[in-house]
Amino acid sequence: MPHLLLNNGVSIPQIGFGLWRNTDEQECKNSIKWALTTGYRHFDDAQVYDNEQHLGAAIKESAVPRSDLFITTKISRANMWGTEVIPSFRESLKKLQMDYVDLLLLHFPVTECRDMSWRRLEEIYKAGEAKAIGVSNYTVKHLQQMKAKFKVTPAVNQVEMSIALQQPELVEYCRKEGIIVEAYTPLAEGVFLKNPIIEQIAKKYDKTTAQVMLRWCIDYGVVVLTKSSNKERIKENFDIFDFKLDNSDMSKLRTLDSGFRTNWDPTYIA
Ligand SMILES: NC(=O)c1ccc[n+]([C@@H]2O[C@H](COP(=O)([O-])OP(=O)(O)OC[C@H]3O[C@@H](n4cnc5c(N)ncnc54)[C@H](OP(=O)(O)O)[C@@H]3O)[C@@H](O)[C@H]2O)c1
Repeated sequence: MPHLLLNNGVSIPQIGFGLWRNTDEQECKNSIKWALTTGYRHFDDAQVYDNEQHLGAAIKESAVPRSDLFITTKISRANMWGTEVIPSFRESLKKLQMDYVDLLLLHFPVTECRDMSWRRLEEIYKAGEAKAIGVSNYTVKHLQQMKAKFKVTPAVNQVEMSIALQQPELVEYCRKEGIIVEAYTPLAEGVFLKNPIIEQIAKKYDKTTAQVMLRWCIDYGVVVLTKSSNKERIKENFDIFDFKLDNSDMSKLRTLDSGFRTNWDPTYIA
C-alpha cells in the first residue's frame, strides 16, 4: 500500500477506509475487522458519523497495534463553535480509546466559526494530541483566506472527488501549497460503474469499474477514501495496487470530468 508524506513529515496511507453511514454497531465493527484483515490501516471517522466508539472497540479487539494505524476524526459543524472544539475532541478520544489521532479535521468551512476552530486545532496539534491537522470541504478561496491569517498550513483538505469531479484547480492549488488532497465518495454513488469508457479500461486490466475509479485517485496523486460494509467489496476496493493506469487511460478518463457532485457544493460558502 503506497503512502504520501504530509507537510509536517507524517506518513499517510494512500487508501483509507471510510466510516460514513455505518452506524449499526455489529455491521460497523465487522466491516472494520474485515478491513483490518484485508490490510487497510487508515480509518476515516468523524464525530457526526456516530461510530467513533465502534472504531475504538474494533481496534481494541484486534491484534493490530495502534502505532500501525492512521486514524482521522473530524470536528462536526455543531462543535466548531470555539469553546466546544476541545471538549468535543476529548470526547472523541474517549470514544476511540486513544490518546491521540493521526489527523484531525474541521468537517466544514463554517463561515462564522472556522477561524476560531482552527486556533483550537492548532492548540491540539501543539499538545501532540493530533499528529496533523487539516480541513474538509474547503475551496481554494477558503484556503487562501486561511493562508493570510494562520501560521500552520492544513496538512490535508478532504473533498468530494471522483473521475466525474476531478477539480484540477483545487488539486493544483493544494499541490503548490503542500496540502494533500483526500478524495471522498470516489465511486460517485455508483453512477459511473457502467460507463463504457471505464468499462473498457477495466477490461484491459482485468479489474472492476469500481477498482478503476479507486485506482484513478491513486494515479491522480490523492488519498482515496472508500467505504463498504460488504466483505467482498472491502477486499475488491483494496485490490488496486497491482496495476497502474497509463497516460492514455488517464487522458480518456479526463474526458469524464463533468463536475458531477453527489454531495453539497461548498463553493457557495463565504
Ligand atoms: N468530509 C466529508 O464531508 C465527507 C463526505 C462524504 C464521505 N466522507 C468520507 O469518505 C468516505 C468514502 O465516501 P463514501 O462512503 O461516499 O464512499 P464510496 O466508497 O464512494 O461509496 C460507498 C458506497 O458505494 C458502495 N460500494 C463500495 N464499494 C463498492 C464496489 N466495489 N462496487 C459497488 N459499490 C460499492 C457501498 O455500498 P456497500 O457498503 O453495500 O458495499 C456504499 O453504498 C466516507 O465513508 C467518509 O469517511 C467524507
